Amino acid sequence: MKKALITGITGQDGSFLSELLLEKGYEVHGIIRHVALEDPQTRMWRIRHILDKIHIHSASMESYASIFNIVSELKPDECYHLAAQSYVSYSFEDEFSTINTNLNGTHYILSAIKRQAPDCRFYFAASSEAFGRVRETPQNEDTPFHPRSPYGISKMAGFELTRNYREAYNLFALSGILFNHESNRRGAEFVTRKISSAAAKIKLGIEKEIRLGNIEAKRDWGHAKDYVRAMWLMLQQDEPEDFVIATGQSRSVREFLDAAFTHAGLDYHDHLITDQNLYRPSETHTLQGNASKARKKLNWHPTVTFEELVREMVESDLALYSKK
Ligand code: GDD
Repeated sequence: MKKALITGITGQDGSFLSELLLEKGYEVHGIIRHVALEDPQTRMWRIRHILDKIHIHSASMESYASIFNIVSELKPDECYHLAAQSYVSYSFEDEFSTINTNLNGTHYILSAIKRQAPDCRFYFAASSEAFGRVRETPQNEDTPFHPRSPYGISKMAGFELTRNYREAYNLFALSGILFNHESNRRGAEFVTRKISSAAAKIKLGIEKEIRLGNIEAKRDWGHAKDYVRAMWLMLQQDEPEDFVIATGQSRSVREFLDAAFTHAGLDYHDHLITDQNLYRPSETHTLQGNASKARKKLNWHPTVTFEELVREMVESDLALYSKK
């Protein structure tokens, strides 16, 4: 039985990936911050239904000793490093903690694997946010990075670190450069979930308005379930290589808003308040990925359309807030 270690197992991607690996017969281990263990109901809602099937270890991505101990004890066959401060906006408010946590965490786990489990296959969750002020459209594996946020910088640095461990120490280490991926497990602070939950709450009479920043920003949005499948496929290759994962379709926040509100039977114009405080100091305006390498080499392609994604998220929030 193959052993997989997932950092960030309580997040959207960690939960879908755990389900996928369990289905494939893996022994699944996850690292969880101690604070999450103290507050399991809130912090573990995405993995509550599989808690009896997975193994949870308490550790901090900020402590080399704790990461080193888990890697040496487990000696995993595969490691998926998903843990990060992943909210781009927050990275402008506290750029030091975002860069320190994200980069050191990646470095600690790579170093521990190099020393204690050199045969372990390593996946790093890089991000399309690193393309920032995009040099070409669509973006692929050869597009130069030009990050526009401390978060994007931390992901670019993690990508380079992973590549260096691959080249210098011969580790099977690679990065998935994933474009935005969403679901009904998305955190409330990200724009898609903010919109789907607002559409549901307004429809149900719980709220009246939604405040947003730049709704002309464009993103390439896919479904998280499709994207975790790509992570697994990458680690099953003969050679470690980096891959862009995207749908190839770019939509504006306005389009998402319109589709979600229309699905709830609402007109967003009646409820939208534009808030200058929610604009970012500098940002990536248009992201659109070219995943043809993944299509060709991994036989990966997205299965959920933009319209299906919006519908799923709004329906799920309508059900959630009706119950509450
Ligand atoms: N969060 C948020 N809240 N975003 C808003 C709002 C708002 O009120 N109003 C407009 N936006 C715009 C942002 O300016 C951005 O252009 C876009 O909506 C998407 O924002 P997020 O959903 O916060 O995601 P992100 O694109 O910044 O980052 C996500 O995708 C990356 C992959 O490219 C995160 O999941 C990152 O962790 C991930 O790496």
